[in-house]
Amino acid sequence: MADQRITFQVNGNPVELSLSGDTPLVHVLRHDLALKGTRLGCGEGQCGACTVLLDGSPVQSCDTPLRSVAGREITTIEGLSDMDAPGPVQQIFLDEQAAQCGYCINGIIMSVTALLAREPRPDRAAILAHLDERHLCRCGAQGRILRAFDRAMSAVAESAG
Ligand code: FES
Ligand code: FES
Repeated sequence: MADQRITFQVNGNPVELSLSGDTPLVHVLRHDLALKGTRLGCGEGQCGACTVLLDGSPVQSCDTPLRSVAGREITTIEGLSDMDAPGPVQQIFLDEQAAQCGYCINGIIMSVTALLAREPRPDRAAILAHLDERHLCRCGAQGRILRAFDRAMSAVAESAG
């Protein structure tokens, strides 16, 4: 398919590219924009490693064609950091050592960030459903991930007063 000019925002910065509209967003982020924090796992919309936020909602970027992001705002894991310091949810995952290989974690942090922005105190069933539906972790880090989630939820509640 012929290239088309597409403009959008990534982590608050305007981007304009001429590429096939069929190009999966994950390839654009990693190869064209050098944002390697977005991981490519299955490439088939099954594992959640490639999750980014599109207008604040989590999407699997391997399953998101470039044309569908025209005029929209994308946030990647790099956009959650303040300069070179980790963002608050990232810091909690680090403190809890909530990863083994870490391959799934960036996508999970994006989903956790979106869920807590939408619903500051989700119950355990909602958390498990959200993570189960969207993410695979093959390392057995689920217990640590849930501990990190609980701490992130408490931090959001404290900051809301
Ligand atoms: S790489 Fe996108 S869901 Fe697995
Ligand atoms: S920590 Fe390895 S896949 Fe989740």
